Amino acid sequence: MEIFIDSANVEEIKEILSWGIADGCTTNPKLASAEKGKDFETNTKEILKLVKGPVSIEVTTNDLSEMLKEAEKYASWGQNVVVKLPMGVAGLKATAVLSAKGIKTNVTACMSPAQAILAAKAGATYASLFYSRIGDMGYDAAKVVRDTADLFARSHVKTKIIVGSIRHMMQIIEAGLQGAHVLTIPPKFLIQMTQNPKTDESIAEFLEAWSAYKKK
Ligand code: E4P
Repeated sequence: MEIFIDSANVEEIKEILSWGIADGCTTNPKLASAEKGKDFETNTKEILKLVKGPVSIEVTTNDLSEMLKEAEKYASWGQNVVVKLPMGVAGLKATAVLSAKGIKTNVTACMSPAQAILAAKAGATYASLFYSRIGDMGYDAAKVVRDTADLFARSHVKTKIIVGSIRHMMQIIEAGLQGAHVLTIPPKFLIQMTQNPKTDESIAEFLEAWSAYKKK
């Protein structure tokens, strides 16, 4: 299973990359617009330089020809660009055009296996399932991921499932166990994943024993 950083913040991304645990990064227009006072293109290019793996950059329109224009522009920014496209008819058409050109794509905001299989058939490199947003509608997100993973395996598609929209710690391992290929995780949860009071207690106990021994 791969881990992506779900952030458009250069400092956060730099910090997490230094841990050696991240395989890529995902951004979206909401995350990008949270980077107040920063120029979108400059900020995105900085992220593309920092991250060696795939970086998803989302189009900002629902219009097919505008989507394709933005996609071509993003693709020219680096080898590791993955163009993020909205699930829907225009997004699928754009996915088909771009994947035929060898441009990597991530069909985003999928809420069901039915949507994800269409993304895969259109040639998407990734299909993103939105865990919390599926739960917000009252559906079982774990089942949606599990069914999508089964369907992809049966259909022999190469598209990878990204699980995004992670808002609780418990969802991380839960989604991974359902067959997600990639989890894209906000930095605050990656930090929380390192922490456990029993770990702190154990390390403190060892260091205390060591300092008592050194004092002798
Ligand atoms: C990632 O690709 C998604 O854009 C992101 O995880 C969405 O998260 P949210 O549902 O918390 O906005």
